Amino acid sequence: MIDLLPYQQSIENALTNIPFSSQPSNLYDPLNYFLKIGGKRMRPILALMACEMFGQKYEQALNAAIAVEIFHNFSLIHDDIMDKAPLRRGQETVHKKWNDNIAILSGDVLLVKAYQEIEKYEAETALALLKIFNRTAVEVCEGQQYDMDFETEQYVSVEQYIEMIKNKTAVLLGCSLEMGSIVAGATIDDYQNIYEFGVNLGIAFQLQDDLLDVYGDQSKFGKQIAGDIIANKKTFLWLTALKDASAEQKLELNSLLKETNPSTKIDGVIAIYNQLQIKEKTQKKMHQYYHAALENINRISVSEAAKKPLLSLGEFLMQRDH
Ligand code: IPE
Ligand code: IPE
Ligand code: MG
Ligand code: MG
Ligand code: MG
Repeated sequence: MIDLLPYQQSIENALTNIPFSSQPSNLYDPLNYFLKIGGKRMRPILALMACEMFGQKYEQALNAAIAVEIFHNFSLIHDDIMDKAPLRRGQETVHKKWNDNIAILSGDVLLVKAYQEIEKYEAETALALLKIFNRTAVEVCEGQQYDMDFETEQYVSVEQYIEMIKNKTAVLLGCSLEMGSIVAGATIDDYQNIYEFGVNLGIAFQLQDDLLDVYGDQSKFGKQIAGDIIANKKTFLWLTALKDASAEQKLELNSLLKETNPSTKIDGVIAIYNQLQIKEKTQKKMHQYYHAALENINRISVSEAAKKPLLSLGEFLMQRDH
């Protein structure tokens, strides 16, 4: 297993050194709070590793890495409002600790801070980074909107779900890797392959997130367990259960959608998931995307040794419990 610590330390240092003003405190306190409560820092690590894989010192990609981590944090602050989530990284979410308006505006300023990190590169590199970053940011918003739209839609296909998670989550992993590769000056072919690696890994990652939402341990996962069930999210687990259910189970699932008592709803849905082996079926799907990601990285024209850190990070992600 690769030692992630040097990457993580560089990222934490850089995050600590971002110059945030202290006033107005209701704008900046939430940001400092949110950035300090941690997170896996997986996206910036991807950016650093991609830069290193293409033969440059990873420090060169640090500003790009910080830009994607900041963007990710902005998207989480807003996501927690949309999902009415009380808990994140084991702590109260920003909209709960402060309020929705504060969470909206502090998220907004964080997004702008991401752009200020990209500004630090010379013009040609900055423009290339901005193109992929902006395209990705639009896709994330599209994915987030579908995610919310699907809460009230009865018929969502697995294909629609995969497209939705590709946008809300997976493209940002691809973008992180591509940004690291752009800084390193990789060839177009290589950054297409690394982007695809990130997208497939990201789809596997979101399937894992959906799984942990139901079967995770809240003290490790740091988010409210079964939040997706309460919010009627059309996750892979839900769609597969509905597809594989007997007529009786289908009726039960559809009536649970309208159940107002949260623990009755959660227990009822999980009981059907267990009867239908939904955990195993989701793991199988997740591994399919993980294997597709491995095929993408195989096609990249650098030595096997240079690919090791990314492969090792991929493996770590597939085994995570948080
Ligand atoms: C959470 O991402 C949002 C998803 C796309 C599932 P992470 O699981 O990477 O969150 P942190 O940054 O480690 O808290
Ligand atoms: C979040 O998906 C994706 C983005 C923030 C763009 P989720 O809503 O599943 O993420 P968590 O579970 O709250 O981290
Ligand atoms: Mg969400
Ligand atoms: Mg959420
Ligand atoms: Mg989730």
